Amino acid sequence: MAKIGLSKICVIGAGNIGGTLAQRLAETDVAGELVLFDIVEGLPQGKALDIQESAPVMGFSTRVWGSTRLEEAVDGSDLVILTAGLARKPGMSRSDLLSRNAQIVKGHAEAIRAKAPEAVVIVVTNPVDVMAYYVRKVTGFPRERVIAESGALDSARFRWFVADALGVTPRDVIGFTLGTHGDTMVPVLSHCSVNGVPVTKLLPPEKLKAIVERTKKGGGEIVDLLKTGSAFYAPSAAQLEMALAVARDEHRLLSCSVQLDGEYGFKDVFLSVPVIIGRSGISKIHEIDLSSDEQTALEASAKAVSEDLKLLATMPL
Ligand code: APR
Repeated sequence: MAKIGLSKICVIGAGNIGGTLAQRLAETDVAGELVLFDIVEGLPQGKALDIQESAPVMGFSTRVWGSTRLEEAVDGSDLVILTAGLARKPGMSRSDLLSRNAQIVKGHAEAIRAKAPEAVVIVVTNPVDVMAYYVRKVTGFPRERVIAESGALDSARFRWFVADALGVTPRDVIGFTLGTHGDTMVPVLSHCSVNGVPVTKLLPPEKLKAIVERTKKGGGEIVDLLKTGSAFYAPSAAQLEMALAVARDEHRLLSCSVQLDGEYGFKDVFLSVPVIIGRSGISKIHEIDLSSDEQTALEASAKAVSEDLKLLATMPL
């Protein structure tokens, strides 16, 4: 029998993503306790109290609190979501970002290992597929319990662009992206449909190509519009989808980034692939047939993540 709901969820990082995710989680009433953690004194406490005060109106019972003490925040959590980190700023190199965010998630991963050894961990901090690899390494957790967000968000964007092009409700668009959360991601047209009707039969090739390109640049499009800051509504919705799959033991089939061990021909690298996700984390990785173009694109994706992992291995953390 499925266990519905969790005792404690900890969201690390109370910025745009962490705060919005905490609000979404509280409103689903899926946990007894929800803790928001950040290094900035007052920020997690203030956002948590603000969310908590919406409970009488929104009708949830979750106890929401904030803390700047890592160990008490993480202690005994069933699910920890890592959103703390820096966004890439002008002048910051890729390796600077990698090293600064790896230093940030290292401390969090150590606390999770010590205080929440049975937790499922969802990693959001960018570059997310690389950070997830590092979190798994530091925690020593089985690969089933360290999952990165990439595919869930990119799939949502992909599905919206298809729905918009066809003028249908996005709920009826089935589809996902594979690979990394970056330019080399692979929106999978061969498995995209509107309730089973292949999208390749509904839209012309040039339109589909444009959708694939727009999906790949989805994060950048929002950054260009916002000018300061990056997306957080769609990201937090995608994280909620994953968190609910865990909390409600839903056994959803979602595209999530997991450490591969030979699947799709790759080893020792995190990439988004279709997985079954529930209370214990990943229970199955599905290997689906891809077109030869899609498999080639997935190889480029794996190469990009592997290069970052090599860079990470040279850093004194
Ligand atoms: N411990 C805890 N919190 C930290 C730490 C740390 N060591 N370092 C930074 N933070 C917090 C910041 O104080 C801030 O509140 O992380 C939060 C980040 O919030 P935002 O800057 O608003 O960034 P956000 O949009 O939420 O993105 C967070 O997710 O998508 C990725 O690239 C994105 O890595 C970034 C992360």
